[in-house]
Amino acid sequence: MTDSSQSPLRVFITGGTRGIGRAIALRFAREGAMVAVAARTSADLDAIVAEIESAGGQGDACQTNMRDHGSVEAAVFRAVDFFEGTTDIVVNCAGLVEFKPFDELGVDDWERALAVHLTGPFLVMAEVLPSLRESERAHVFNVGAHLAGQPGPGQSLMAASKAGVEGMSRGLRADLGPEGVRVTTVLPGYVDTPGLGPWKETLGGAAVTTSEAVADAIWDAYQAEAAPDEISIC
Ligand SMILES: NC(=O)c1ccc[n+]([C@@H]2O[C@H](COP(=O)([O-])OP(=O)(O)OC[C@H]3O[C@@H](n4cnc5c(N)ncnc54)[C@H](OP(=O)(O)O)[C@@H]3O)[C@@H](O)[C@H]2O)c1
Repeated sequence: MTDSSQSPLRVFITGGTRGIGRAIALRFAREGAMVAVAARTSADLDAIVAEIESAGGQGDACQTNMRDHGSVEAAVFRAVDFFEGTTDIVVNCAGLVEFKPFDELGVDDWERALAVHLTGPFLVMAEVLPSLRESERAHVFNVGAHLAGQPGPGQSLMAASKAGVEGMSRGLRADLGPEGVRVTTVLPGYVDTPGLGPWKETLGGAAVTTSEAVADAIWDAYQAEAAPDEISIC
């Protein structure tokens, strides 16, 4: 096992190029962390690596599509190599924001949400677990959505896939908690991100928070002596 107190934190973040994931990447970078970011768009990956390094961290770009099993495995392999075998923190954040009435949803919409929100994190966890077990302070953050508990109109796609994230998180905690791997579900309300942009006018004046507030809540949860099972940021 590697003592986390003697080396920079090693943080793997999916969806870390924009919105919530980007703010989390920069929050950890400001703490001097090594931050490996996974997403599809190479220009955005180059940009966040530069920002991580300007903020005081060390960055690495792991290009992947969460819908492509082989590319997810390759991205995690690259990150673990960058971390020299030990991963301290995983943030499963890659995802979408999409609101559509149930009777307008197609099976492609449904399968895309389940693939990115659920199957992708499953693949990440399967691949990253041996290196998490090397850390003395391993912590997994799974980004769900507050709306999953009480969806409004047009939110069944988000609610179903993100409720799955909550179930996966609870199961992971049951399996990994006894080994000392901490697992926290992150439940953002509406967050002002590029992903929310197209839907902002449909929210009817609901409160919208910032990506930085989500990132700060994750940092606080990481530092807490007793890891919270869930954090809500609304
Ligand atoms: N914003 C909100 O109000 C809100 C509320 C609750 C929960 N959430 C959740 O929070 C997470 C982040 O949302 P956000 O609003 O920050 O979204 P965003 O601004 O659209 O950013 C999404 C991130 O995920 C990556 N991504 C999307 N699809 C991907 C794929 N197939 N493979 C790999 N990476 C992919 C994107 O990069 P590429 O496009 O380059 O791949 C980007 O880095 C999502 O899981 C979302 O469901 C958001």
